[in-house]
Amino acid sequence: MARCFVTRELPGGALARLAAEHEVDVWPRRTPPPPDVLRERVAEAEGLLCLLTDRVDRGLLDGAPRLRVVSNLAVGADNVDVAAAAERGIPVGYTPEVLTETTADLAFALMLAVARRLPEGERAVRAGEWLTWEPGWLLGRDVHGATLAVIGAGRIGGAVARRAEAGFGMTVLRVGRGDDPRPALARADFVSLHVPLSPQTRGLVDDAFLAAMPPTAYLVNTARGAIVDQDALARALREGRIAGAALDVTDPEPLPPDHPLLAAPNLIVLPHLGSATHATRERMADLAVDNLLAGLVDKPLPHAFGSIPSP
Ligand code: DGY
Repeated sequence: MARCFVTRELPGGALARLAAEHEVDVWPRRTPPPPDVLRERVAEAEGLLCLLTDRVDRGLLDGAPRLRVVSNLAVGADNVDVAAAAERGIPVGYTPEVLTETTADLAFALMLAVARRLPEGERAVRAGEWLTWEPGWLLGRDVHGATLAVIGAGRIGGAVARRAEAGFGMTVLRVGRGDDPRPALARADFVSLHVPLSPQTRGLVDDAFLAAMPPTAYLVNTARGAIVDQDALARALREGRIAGAALDVTDPEPLPPDHPLLAAPNLIVLPHLGSATHATRERMADLAVDNLLAGLVDKPLPHAFGSIPSP
């Protein structure tokens, strides 16, 4: 029986499966364990099941001599120092595939919401501003038939592209790693980000990227907040250099309510809901526990994070 620290309660029955075989300490709060608590709990643990909100860095690993496996409940692993773990022979698990379609659904929901101005309409109804049916009120842009640039050639980008082509008759321009995005950006009505966060993609969406988009285009981000230079985005929105943006992810998370980005016009921000359905979060929990269980008996993890894959 190994000692495991789990940094949050998880939906479904996965943790019960873990607890049937190991000694499990689950952090009971809704917010992440503070760094000193995480350090203290991991110091004794052989298995760690963590979330994208937990920073698993070199220092934490240095203080965890018994740790044999890290299982991250996410398709990304940018919160884990994977190289430092590898140096110590600690495999890192992640939860790919199970959240692909759910996250692609959310990218589409954001695209529709920002282009068709759904939050504004909803707010207007509640504020008593809906006077009558008006020919020129709250007009948005069509999603069907539009041109979509998908930045990132991984699974989620592929699932978004499939929806766009098959369901909405859109023209999809795929931009893979190493491609110059500018020709696609120049033609896009929508730009959807699907790259992992890495040193290469941090700040990818900067002034120049935004300047390459037409002023009628919308940006959608369901990947990682730090891929977007948020100051540059706020400027572009304020100056009307792009039509709008819909973000499921920000940097930091949560974004403080007085953050300057939130004052920008034509912006939707969600609290990182990409994979947030009952079924998908339960599948993620199952995969994370499968990874942990395998690592604790020194078997290869069913989903081990190697080099940085595409989400
Ligand atoms: C992930 O798994 O990396 C997602 O961002 C969670 O929705």
